[in-house]
Amino acid sequence: MTTTVRHFLRDDDISPQEQAEILDRAAAIKSRPFSDRTLEGPQVVAVLFDKQTLRTQVSFAAAIAHLGGFPLVIDGKLAQVGVRESIADVARVLTREATAIVWRTYGQERIEEMAAHSSVPVVNALTDEFHPCQILADLLTIKEHKGRLAGLSFAYVGDGANNMSHSYLLGMAMSGLHVRIGTPATYQPHPSVLARARALAAETGGSVTIVEDPAEAVAGVDVVATDTWVSMGFEKEKESRQGSTSPFARYAVSAELMALAASDAIFLHCLPAYRGFEVDASVIDGPQSVVWDESENRLHAQKAVLSWLVEKSGGDRR
Ligand code: NVA
Repeated sequence: MTTTVRHFLRDDDISPQEQAEILDRAAAIKSRPFSDRTLEGPQVVAVLFDKQTLRTQVSFAAAIAHLGGFPLVIDGKLAQVGVRESIADVARVLTREATAIVWRTYGQERIEEMAAHSSVPVVNALTDEFHPCQILADLLTIKEHKGRLAGLSFAYVGDGANNMSHSYLLGMAMSGLHVRIGTPATYQPHPSVLARARALAAETGGSVTIVEDPAEAVAGVDVVATDTWVSMGFEKEKESRQGSTSPFARYAVSAELMALAASDAIFLHCLPAYRGFEVDASVIDGPQSVVWDESENRLHAQKAVLSWLVEKSGGDRR
């Protein structure tokens, strides 16, 4: 019997049922952190970074170690994937020695190329277009604080064209949430992602709404989220995005904006956060913020997704 290798390159590489399964696995792993030994050996997981990292490196290294494996962290500046040698050749090399590949890089087409030449699972640890592991952590956090997912309302305000916006659209719609994106007309999500999110929402009973008015986006919602206005790789646009004429200024999550959400709403931020820009200190450091739980949940969610992918792909090397 041949098993098809499973990758997690974007949020909709898994079905709604599979997402629920992974989230249940994450909750179980969180309650018994060393119960899953999928990577025992220790088996190697290659973790490559072409962009800056803190949480992702720490949480993947800890996740792989907890699963009994060895995290082989590779600095993208040394490996120069796609420059020193082709992405395909890197995939061929890593596949022979690693049980899975985790990669943070620029264009989504790069990780797709890696996956196309890999016979082991490839996991997206952030690209310019998507950040699917973060959304699993966010869903786990919402479920812990709200007791459920389907039917809740969620608002993301800020850069509607970035990786977090795209992944929220897909991942939250997949869980049956009512997703609202509040963003300027010039930073709209990619139309194909929007269409896919709408199709998912139609399947799960969720919904997707894009608005320009941040107050309209957050009105009465259960969850408010934002992200930096200057994503990694977009540093050249720092002045136009974060300067005095920033189009995002009115999307900053101030205490006033947060007060428009439900009185028991929670606040999420994938971090790193820039207080005084996309969020005020009074919100991120205030009682409605659950960002430290969210950050820790990267660990549990990634353990779940790694062990699930390896299991589904029949990739255990022992
Ligand atoms: N949109 C941000 C997310 C950081 C985790 C970035 O890409 O830099």
